[in-house]
Order: sequence, then C-alpha cells, then structure tokens
Amino acid sequence: MITTGEVDSLRTQVESWRRGGNVAFVPTMGNLHAGHLSLIEAAHKVADRVVASIFVNPLQFGAGEDFDNYPRTLERDAAMLAAEGTDLLFAPSVRVMYPKAQAEQTRVEVPGLSDVLCGACRPGHFVGVATVVCKLFNMVQPDIALFGNKDYQQLMVIRRMVQDLAMPVKIIGVETMRESSGLAMSSRNGYLSDGERAIAPVLYRVLTGVAQALREGSQDFAGLQAQAARELDDNGLRTDYVAIRNAADLLEPAAGEDRLVVLAAAFLGKARLIDNIEVAR
Ligand code: PAF
Repeated sequence: MITTGEVDSLRTQVESWRRGGNVAFVPTMGNLHAGHLSLIEAAHKVADRVVASIFVNPLQFGAGEDFDNYPRTLERDAAMLAAEGTDLLFAPSVRVMYPKAQAEQTRVEVPGLSDVLCGACRPGHFVGVATVVCKLFNMVQPDIALFGNKDYQQLMVIRRMVQDLAMPVKIIGVETMRESSGLAMSSRNGYLSDGERAIAPVLYRVLTGVAQALREGSQDFAGLQAQAARELDDNGLRTDYVAIRNAADLLEPAAGEDRLVVLAAAFLGKARLIDNIEVAR
C-alpha cells in the first residue's frame, strides 16, 4: 500500500491508475472498525484500485465537541487498510487540507438538508463535511466514492452536493455493519463504558419497533416518534431526536408515503449515537 500525505504524489498515482481502470475512494476519519473495512471490501468489488483517506476534519466539529479527543490511531489503521488490499492511503495534515486559517476556507453548503436532524443539533457540521468531501474529491479525483448508510443524512448531503455541483463521482451507500447486539458499529462506540455498551443496543431495538409499525401500515408518525423517544429515555439514553422522514429528501412525510426512513440520535455518556432504518411499504 502506498501512503502519502501530499496532494501532488496522490494525484500523479491516481491519474496513472485511471488511465488503465477505475478508482474507488473511501474517505474516513480513522479509528477504523469492521464497518470501514466493509466499505473497502465493497470498493474492491466496483473498482480496479481503492484509495482510502484518513483525516480528522476540524471543520466538521463544533465548539465543545470531541475534535481534540477523537482517537488518532494511524499506524493501526494503516495496517488494517493494507491487510484489506487498499492500494493507497492518503493521510494529509491539517496544513495540507487547510493551508489558510479555517475562517478563510471556501465552504460548500447544501442548504435545507444540512439544517435538520443532526444539522439542527450540530450547527455547521454538514458544511464542514461537504467542504472536506468536496476538497478530498478534488484531490483524489475518484470515479466512485463509498459511504456508510449509518450516516444517512451525511450520505444525502453528499449525494445532493455531487448532483448540484455536477461532480463526476458515483456515490455508493453501503449497508450498516452491526455488532451481534444490533448496535451500529461506530468509532464513537469506543467512548462507551461497559455499562453503557449494555444499554446502547436499545437504540436499534427501538428503531426496529418503529420500522415494524410503519411496515404494518401505521400512519401515526408523531405518536410513534414520541413513544420511541420515551422508550430511549426510559432506558437511560437522552434522546436528541427520533424522526420519521421521506427516505429520498428527509422532508416530513405525507400520510401514505411508501419510502420512509426512521432516524434517531441519542446521547449515552460521552457518546452521541446515531442510527437509522429504511422502510419500504
Ligand atoms: O463519516 C466520516 O467519517 C466523515 O464525516 C467523512 C465523510 C470522512 C468526512 O470527514
């Protein structure tokens, strides 16, 4: 596996690979787990070469969030990526990604989609995500990029950005990897104590119940959301939101809508957990 932190060498290498085949890209913030590796595996199935990046992006963290404490495990991550047959790891410094002061950095904003759900709780977060992903796409120049479905809203923001800015990158969403308890794999699960780990699977269980009720035809979206939030709180989580939305645009659904997604975010100790389930009915 080639490892570089420099844009010139990254570009030269990817350019030569693209002359003879296609290149898939998996952007990450590191602290890798089996969910990330499933993205690399999916990337190998759709492309001749696979590039991954590791960059803890300061622009997407709000004041008081975990940017400083976010686990940086580059050596271990690089070994995991190499073992999965990743062709190139791009691990730039903050100076390479943002040579100017952050306040002077041009930003990419996807309006509407960025302001609801996680965007409402984390103002500026999706501007940070869209900006860094746009910049990484410009640096890597991939044909295809893969993201986890767990970050459903992030995936929608990126799809919309690519469409609105006519970026020639095909976006693929990859199914969420779960622990045997149902808990969605996430780097932030590392913040959970043993006791909290035992509670955390409640999030998926509650979402599964809502999804089931929707599949059975319930139209009482407000009632289901309120009941789910109560269940989370009763089990020791602190609900940020539970929302039933249109799967295609995250708008509030009309009765009878048949492609839905139920999304939730809840705090547990130092972690903010998110998860979602798509429902077709
Ligand atoms: O999902 C993530 O890990 C990050 O938000 C991403 C897409 C790598 C951008 O920093």
